Order: sequence, then C-alpha cells, then structure tokens
Amino acid sequence: MNNFTFYNPVKILFGKGQIAGLSKEVPAGARVLMAYGGGSIKKNGVYEQVMDALKGHKVVEFGGIEPNPRYETLMQAVGLAKQEQIDYILAVGGGSVIDGVKFIAAAIPFEGGDPWKICSEKVPVTEAIPFGAVLTLPATGSEMNSGSVITREETKQKLSFGSPLTFPKFSILDPETTFSLPLRQLSNGVVDAFTHVLEQYLTYPVNAPLQDRLAESILITLKEEGPKALQNPTDYDTAANIMWCATMALNGVIRVGVPTDWATHMIGHELTALHGIDHARTLAIVLPSLLRYKRDTKREKLLQYGERVWGVTQGSDEDRLEATVQATVNFFESLDIRTRLRDYEVDKSTIQEIVQRFEERGVKNLGERADIQVADVEQILTMSL
Ligand code: NZQ
Ligand code: ZN
Repeated sequence: MNNFTFYNPVKILFGKGQIAGLSKEVPAGARVLMAYGGGSIKKNGVYEQVMDALKGHKVVEFGGIEPNPRYETLMQAVGLAKQEQIDYILAVGGGSVIDGVKFIAAAIPFEGGDPWKICSEKVPVTEAIPFGAVLTLPATGSEMNSGSVITREETKQKLSFGSPLTFPKFSILDPETTFSLPLRQLSNGVVDAFTHVLEQYLTYPVNAPLQDRLAESILITLKEEGPKALQNPTDYDTAANIMWCATMALNGVIRVGVPTDWATHMIGHELTALHGIDHARTLAIVLPSLLRYKRDTKREKLLQYGERVWGVTQGSDEDRLEATVQATVNFFESLDIRTRLRDYEVDKSTIQEIVQRFEERGVKNLGERADIQVADVEQILTMSL
C-alpha cells in the first residue's frame, strides 16, 4: 500500500427531515447567501424546508446556477455577496450548485486579480468563505469533497480546482429530496458514481485489499440499486442507498494508499465543454474505450473487477477482459445511457479539437502510470466513435 494522508472534515447529516437541522449548523448571526440552481428546489418543497430552517438568519438568495456551473454566473454571485457582506454560503442543489459555491467561496476573498486564475493557473486558494450544502442529486460526491469543476463559457473551458479550504462545513443528505429527479439525472448519478469508483480502482494492484473491497462493494451496490431506482424513484431505501454510495465514491476514503487514474474524467470534461453533453454521459463514452485501450496495463485489476463485480470467470484472459468491459457497457446502456460519440452526433472533428486543446494546454501524462499522451487520447476517442 502507498503512503497516504487522509483528511475529511465534512459533517454529514443523513436522512429524512434532516434539513430542519440547518438552523443549528449555520452559525447564529451569519449573513447567508443561499445559492441554488434553475428552480427545481422551488417545485419539490426543498426551498420551503430550507427557508423555514433559516428563519432566524439573514438570508440573501442567488438562483440560476446552471448545470456545469459557469464562471460568468458565479462572478455575479461574488458581486452580490460582496455587496451584501455575506459571511456564510449555503449551496442547495446538485454537484453544479455545490461546485459553484466552492468557487464563489474562494473568489470572494481572492486578492490575486481575476479569480478564474484559481482554475486556469491553479493559483492556490488561501482563504474561503465557509459554506454548507443541502444535496438534492446523488452523483458527484462534491458534498463531501473539496473539488470543483467550473466552466468558462467565453472560452469553452471546463477546469477543476480544489483546496483544503473548500470542503463544505457540513452537508445534509435527505434522500427524499431526490424523489423529484428526472430519470435522466438519476441514471447520470449512478453512472458518475460508478465511474468515480472505477477511476480509483481500475489501475494496478498495490496489495490494498481493503480499498479494493470497499470499491467493489460500492460498485455492486450501485449495480443492484441503480436499476431499482429507475423503476421506483420514490422508494426511500433505494434512494438512500444510492445517495450514500455516491458520497462514498468520491469522499476520499477509497482513494487512500492506491494509484488513481482520472483520465476518463479529463477527457470527458472536454466533451461537456465543447458539446454540453451531460458529465456522466461523457464518462460512459470514454471509459469503455479507455479500458480496452489500456487493458494490458490494467489487466490484473480488470480481471479482478470482472470476476468480483460481474461474475466473469470463463474463457481466456482476453475473453474475460472483453466480457468485463462489455458488462460495464451493458450496465450503462441498461440505464439508458448511450456509450458512443455517434449517439451524441459528435464526429472526428471534435477529436481533433480536443487533441489541439490538450496540446495547447500542455495536457500530458494522464492515467495512473502517467502514460496516456495526447496521441493516446486521440486513439481512445477514435475507438468511441
Ligand atoms: O438547476 P436545478 O433546477 O436545480 O435542476 C438540476 C439540473 O438541471 C436538476 N436537479 C438537481 N436536483 C434535482 C433536480 N431536478 C429535480 N429534482 C431534484 N432533486 O438536475 C440537473 C443537473 O444538476 P447538476 O447539479 O448539474 O448535476 P450533477 O450533480 O450531476 O453535477 C454535475 C457537475 O458536477 C461536476 C460535473 O463536471 C458537472 O459540472 N463534477 C463535480 C465533481 C466534484 N466536485 O467532485 C466530480 C464529478 O466528477 C464532476 O466532474
Ligand atoms: Zn464525475
């Protein structure tokens, strides 16, 4: 096992009715910016629950944070927060709202010029406004990690940043808030969480059987619960299981002491930036080709994954590797997530554009062995056509 440091300070309040606990989590006397998305919270009762719980606080609202949150929109929130002397932020929504709030929190006190540099030049965050979250979409794990992915519309860049200062102080996970999710977002969430686990697990063995089994248990639970959720989105137990899986998939626990990949995410973000394809769908496009392309260097873990998660035990190693990738593809497709670029009307010209963008940005050495170069990205995407 590799050496590691583990730090995760996020307090989780999980279960029915937990939004009422907000009043105790948000400091008394705080001037709160309540940030949300396009309005789903006003249709499913979450807005009322939050405002009720915050009755004793001074609250300023900022709505309209879009999926794949935009720098341009977030900077408006920064302006409002400064004007209103906000000293606490509450994110109410999915990964986009929480990621957006992480950026707002870091941008308000930023003194190094344009806060976009936090993403584009990786200027370290040295101060951030404290914030909490009420999660309404299980998918990204943003509610219990310090990462954030921000899109700049003007340049069609989608870039990430993270800092120990951008962990939420707390996150409220009430599975009932997810009952109103459209099926498309539910399946996106399952596939995003599933891929988060695979990016931290399908690398090479370092004799870390606990991390392996934790990862496998999340995968198996998602495999069992995902289809149930699509059939019955208002079943509390299923919703609760999916929600906790998605959080556990990217809160840092399964990553400790093992190599991680993240190439699928890096490539997928480009597809969202250029074509607006939902984040999870970009992963479903890239991951199968990446696994096939890297099957030799990922061989041992792929065989283990196939056997333990999909019961693939028959045939030669080559047969088993292909059957394992195909089982993953079938799972994604069974959730109504298409896995080819052509399904999204994306052709070769986009591959060239991504290659050029990676070259210009100096993106190289992706993957757990730092052996995925731009030419490999081109091959992987070509396999996904
Ligand atoms: O904006 P509203 O009206 O709230 O509607 C949203 C949005 O249209 C809707 N929604 C959310 N909760 C709902 C609901 N609709 C009905 N009922 C509810 N309870 O769902 C739509 C999508 O929301 P969004 O927040 O964009 O989805 P998701 O949680 O999948 O977040 C995706 C973003 O997270 C980033 C992605 O790149 C993308 O920008 N990621 C963040 C990560 C992190 N911070 O660690 C890691 C991930 O890999 C990912 O990159
Ligand atoms: Zn993701």
